[in-house]
Amino acid sequence: NQLILDNLKSDVALVGNVGSYIVDSGGKRIRPVLVLLSALASGYSCGKNHQKIAAVIEFIHTATLLHDDVVDLSQLRRGRETANAVWGNAPSILVGDFLYSRAFQMLVEIADMDVMGTIANATNVISEGEVQQLANAGNSSLDEQTYLEVIYRKTAKLFEAACECGAILAEGDRAAMASYGKYLGMAFQIADDVLDLKGDVAVTGKNIGDDLAEGKMTLPAIYARDHASPGDEALLREAFESKSSKKFDQVLDIVTKSGGLEYSLEKAQENCDLAKKRIQPLQNSDQKQVLLNLADFSVNRNA
Ligand code: IPE
Ligand code: IPE
Ligand code: MG
Ligand code: MG
Ligand code: MG
Repeated sequence: NQLILDNLKSDVALVGNVGSYIVDSGGKRIRPVLVLLSALASGYSCGKNHQKIAAVIEFIHTATLLHDDVVDLSQLRRGRETANAVWGNAPSILVGDFLYSRAFQMLVEIADMDVMGTIANATNVISEGEVQQLANAGNSSLDEQTYLEVIYRKTAKLFEAACECGAILAEGDRAAMASYGKYLGMAFQIADDVLDLKGDVAVTGKNIGDDLAEGKMTLPAIYARDHASPGDEALLREAFESKSSKKFDQVLDIVTKSGGLEYSLEKAQENCDLAKKRIQPLQNSDQKQVLLNLADFSVNRNA
């Protein structure tokens, strides 16, 4: 956290203001923790680069949040008004750019081409995921396969990169750690999409219904659309096509009654189990145990 704060410094006051606003409002810091744990669980013991990379990953995550809240027209994040609600869209986008570029400056200090390549690639794929999702806004025919592609790109890729970087530093099993991160990230985003429907705002710190307001079909809604009565299917399609949360209560009702929430949590659990399986061969350690626990947390979480 100290590294994150130190690297937020800028001679331009607005950069620091917006940056520290979102950083100080908390967040679970799950991605940077994954860097630390995957490095240590893979046997890393020779320096502090794991901490630097952890900060880099949180900077990239924070940049995506600033941009994401503009794109999603979101008003609440980490229990506070979003930066775009306080300062407007332009500062949010520009400070997001500052955070991305600061992350790459920090990576140059570490000067590890494998780490740099992994993170550069992930950052690029995340933006593709966000664009792919945007291109599907209001598409009530979105299929599960495309949904899974989108969430892999926009979310799981950064989890994958975080864990892979830990293994790179430790000269451990890169493929195993990357794939643990990928499955964990898939479970994490599916759970997030469930929370967007039935989360407690006081706990998640985010409003519910943002996905519907954006016309974004997520797994619970996709399942419901394919298993509902013709009348309910028509209502769901119309609600997502109109990109309005006016019918949120009816949508939630149909999704719940069709079993869409349970189906999604089962899918999240499958990904969680795959994640855990991939790191089973690691030597036992406290860090490995926490990685296993984090996989469960990503499915069962309320925030
Ligand atoms: C939010 O991530 C964005 C998603 C990929 C769902 P987190 O839920 O990790 O957000 P913070 O950092 O804890 O606020
Ligand atoms: C998050 O997806 C993906 C990225 C930040 C790249 P969401 O749009 O569902 O995340 P929240 O719910 O706003 O945190
Ligand atoms: Mg969002
Ligand atoms: Mg979004
Ligand atoms: Mg969400």
